[in-house]
Amino acid sequence: MKILSIETSCDETAISLFQVTETESGTHFKVLANITHSQVDVHRAYGGVFPKLAKREHQINLPIVLEQIMQDQEIPDYICVTSGPGLEPALWTGITFAIELGQKWNIPVVPVNHMEGHILSVLVPEINGSDFIVPKDLFEFPALALLISGGHTELVLAKNIGDYAIIGKTRDDAVGEAFDKVARILGLQYPGGPEISKLAAQYINQEKPDFPRPMIHSKDYDFSFSGLKTAVLYYTQSLPQPLSDEQKIAVSYEFQEAATEVITKKTKQAVLDLGIQTLIVGGGVSANTRIKESLIKQISEILPAENIHFPVRELTGDNALMIGLAGYFKIKKAPDAVYTDIRAEGNLKL
Ligand code: KG4
Ligand code: ZN
Repeated sequence: MKILSIETSCDETAISLFQVTETESGTHFKVLANITHSQVDVHRAYGGVFPKLAKREHQINLPIVLEQIMQDQEIPDYICVTSGPGLEPALWTGITFAIELGQKWNIPVVPVNHMEGHILSVLVPEINGSDFIVPKDLFEFPALALLISGGHTELVLAKNIGDYAIIGKTRDDAVGEAFDKVARILGLQYPGGPEISKLAAQYINQEKPDFPRPMIHSKDYDFSFSGLKTAVLYYTQSLPQPLSDEQKIAVSYEFQEAATEVITKKTKQAVLDLGIQTLIVGGGVSANTRIKESLIKQISEILPAENIHFPVRELTGDNALMIGLAGYFKIKKAPDAVYTDIRAEGNLKL
């Protein structure tokens, strides 16, 4: 079976094409083409993703990316497209494009949940290896997924593939959003996560502020990052302007430590409380080396290292390969399902 997948939930216009074959040892995926066109340069001037602009860029880029993907390729059997969560105007461009293509090629279009895509992104061992097998017993369940991106901060309990419950989420800003806002306060460019983490890595033992660890002692698995961001704002405003490089390094370091501690503590608590066998981490912020190192250190005290999964770096952010993977498992479960009314759902739950 050949699957074309389309992802336009935020600021990446992404399409992938792969061949899937069921074999004795598991499911064999052969990636035929995979392109992620980032709009980050277009949005940088706005300090964040500007939905109307994202929509316009997707409309321009989708036909161009599709043409590159389909060079010398035959028409696929299915189209999978992200239906949510995400920015609605951006999602609609992908959905409309997918539906028109499905009609032209006379093949089914399957809506896919973006967050499930992030969960399954860890199944891809390397992006350039293009050929990989997903074993039949791919994860030990129950699994816990920590999804951390610019739009989401969620802890998801997975009893199986396709059986998800959100057990905790942010009550205000997503962690990636907090990284982006703190970067803006410090006059760093968008996206802020990589900039903050680069500065934080330069910290030695300069004088530093003490920022709060919001909700670290709460008995639930929820998060809150807006108070942390405000603490950064008030602290930086109290300093003589402009800030020195040393001060920016100290703020970045302490902010990243606060975010890391809260994320690690809540995740570890959930792993312990719920008898979790596997940890999956996904989303743009999972590229953060400090957060990754802290999670691996703490969770490997409870779980075997091979049961802790992070995506390869190229798939931490939004991409179409993860949408095709999630789409394949949905198709496998219900091969004849017909999705007649695919809609963009900005706040779609898992
Ligand atoms: O998953 P993603 O590409 O898009 C969505 O938000 O869905 O995630 C983008 C987010 C941005 O907020 C960006 O600042 C953050 O991921 N990010 C990072 C790092 N790399 C990207 N945050 C912290 N550390 C990083 N190294
Ligand atoms: Zn995402």
